[in-house]
Amino acid sequence: MKFFIDTANLEEITEANALGVLDGVTTNPSLMAKEGISGAENVLNHYKAICGIVDGPISAEVISTDFEGMIREGEVLAALHENIVVKIPMIKDGVKAIRYFSSKGIKTNCTLIFSAGQALLAAKAGATYVSPFIGRLDDISVDGLELIKQIRLIFDNYGYETQILAASVRHAMHIIKCAELGSDVMTGPLSAMLSLLNHPLTDSGLAKFLADHKKVNG
Ligand code: G3P
Repeated sequence: MKFFIDTANLEEITEANALGVLDGVTTNPSLMAKEGISGAENVLNHYKAICGIVDGPISAEVISTDFEGMIREGEVLAALHENIVVKIPMIKDGVKAIRYFSSKGIKTNCTLIFSAGQALLAAKAGATYVSPFIGRLDDISVDGLELIKQIRLIFDNYGYETQILAASVRHAMHIIKCAELGSDVMTGPLSAMLSLLNHPLTDSGLAKFLADHKKVNG
């Protein structure tokens, strides 16, 4: 399973990349705003900076909600760097835009997926990735992981090459379950990725190893 980091924070991206297990980055307008990135030129420069840190797919989201606007924006984003993936919302014009970009060989990530039907539509339009938001479904007491399972089954039934990018991942259990269910990618904050490191028996075991070593070596 590929690991993407879901942030626009350059320090966190650099830290995750230094771990050596990072495959890509996802951003969204909220994450860009959180970093105080505003104005078209600054936004484009920020994406370029991210592309300079991570050698893998970098999702950059359009702001337009009409077909022409999404095409205009997406073409500018795609021209920034070969690793840019144009992130498009699951709306009617978004589906048309995904089909357009797919026919031009431009990679897309269909975002704000909350149902299997939406994922199927995006796959039929030729999306490179679909992003089901599992954490936000859990937040409203709907099982987000069940959606990953459903989409996996549907894509396998028909051999869709669209990759399942489990998004809105919050913690280690989400990541592990996504891996069990065959999600192609997961994206989450650095904290979720680092939480995979933790086990109390690792900590106590290491402390004992070091203490025993010290007993005989001083
Ligand atoms: O980038 C999309 C998605 O991962 C958002 O996650 O934590 O805001 O629900 P979250």
